[in-house]
Amino acid sequence: MFSVRVFWKTISFQTEKLPTCRWWLLCSRDCHSASGPCLGANELKGARNNQVTKRKRERSSCGPVLDLFDQQYREELGKLWLSARSVLLDPHCWQYGVMLNRFTAVTDVTQILQSQGFSRLLTAPPTPVSHLEYQAGKDSLLSAHCSTTCRADDSCPQSDSSSHPLPSERLHSLPHHSLQCYIHPRPLRLPSQVHRPGQLKQYYLLNAASLLPVLALQVKDGEKVLDLCSAPGGKALAIMQCATPALLCCNEPDPHRRDWLAKTLESFLPHSLNSTVIVSAQDGRFFGQSEASTFDKVLVDAPCSNDRSWLYSCSSQQGEQRLKERARLPALQVQLLQSALSAVRPGGLVVYSTCTLSSSENYAVVERVLKDFPEAIPEDLWEEIAVPLSKNFTFTSANPGHGQTSLEFSLQQQNNVISSYRHRFGILVVPQPGKTWGPMFLSRIRKKK
Ligand SMILES: C[S@@+](CC[C@H](N)C(=O)[O-])C[C@H]1O[C@@H](n2cnc3c(N)ncnc32)[C@H](O)[C@@H]1O
Repeated sequence: MFSVRVFWKTISFQTEKLPTCRWWLLCSRDCHSASGPCLGANELKGARNNQVTKRKRERSSCGPVLDLFDQQYREELGKLWLSARSVLLDPHCWQYGVMLNRFTAVTDVTQILQSQGFSRLLTAPPTPVSHLEYQAGKDSLLSAHCSTTCRADDSCPQSDSSSHPLPSERLHSLPHHSLQCYIHPRPLRLPSQVHRPGQLKQYYLLNAASLLPVLALQVKDGEKVLDLCSAPGGKALAIMQCATPALLCCNEPDPHRRDWLAKTLESFLPHSLNSTVIVSAQDGRFFGQSEASTFDKVLVDAPCSNDRSWLYSCSSQQGEQRLKERARLPALQVQLLQSALSAVRPGGLVVYSTCTLSSSENYAVVERVLKDFPEAIPEDLWEEIAVPLSKNFTFTSANPGHGQTSLEFSLQQQNNVISSYRHRFGILVVPQPGKTWGPMFLSRIRKKK
């Protein structure tokens, strides 16, 4: 029925020869897209008391990209852009999430993480909270917590878990029982693990905001799931940490990125899942035609102007080229989301996500698709995701210039109320000092039965 190939079963690739030291003493050479401090052996063992090693090579931002972001995001995000900008321009400040792999033993990693002050994301507080405390958490959602640029050494503010307790009943509604992700209030980064044939990796490093689209998808055991734009596979892995679907189809048309995806899957998932997790190579825009109404859940983690990495384009020329491509992205994103809505069964869910702050690739894409799809109903993620997770992430949902009138906006400001209209099309995680996660936009749409 599916035009897919079980790709990752057969793939072979070069592996680095491991030195004799234990894996966690290594620092990665292929880790995240920009430089950041890396936890070395002594830090992990606690011997040097949490010191952070800065990477030697500094990277500078790309002028044309920054100019455009300044122009666009100042208008779209107001003051929130100034503090987001300070984070994006300071990679030493970036935090890294550690998603554990439930298909391998992780006790040693967990112990190390805990001893270094990492804590588990998505753990509900043990005691119920009062209405006032709940309101305090809610009201903090849109506030930028610090306007100064944080440094890797010591000045990033620590998230204060006691000041904004969260409604435990809401956290319990998130499907996170088996998904284990550890985060640290400071920008400590575990080294990436190298691939070793026959051995599964214990953890995957990620921007913790990448987990939110997966949580919004609410995958349950036995469901058929499509990850339409899958490489390098971080969200596919997260789906497999949350549940055991009957099928997870990971689609990626770019051959190089598909190799990377296959390598990720092979490094983290046991052979017993080879017939459950499959890789396909279609152009996602046509999936809806070839597999109409087939899947229970579809994730569209769309190609987008990836703000973090585009800001560090290696030359002005590359930056300018990317900005030209940027204008073409919304049309592709609209087609991918339309295709996803065709591929999902009536009653099923589609989550659309990007890692850009740009409203034309976020709210505007969703709004455009909904116009032509009367059977598609946008769902409110504010109460389900933004409110319970406001301790860890800074969320916003729209801006004066897009999707609402300025009158509505000023009324909301006066009343300190977030109207349901404001977050109808999705929620946006904006990186802020001390909570540097994001950018990440997510929107959930249900197809009517
Ligand atoms: C943001 S990345 C996906 C990241 C991935 N979901 C993860 O969590 O690791 C977007 C991906 O979409 C792929 N892509 C680009 N055009 C596409 C198309 N027409 N159909 C499907 N995927 C496409 C890109 O090659 C890229 O790998």
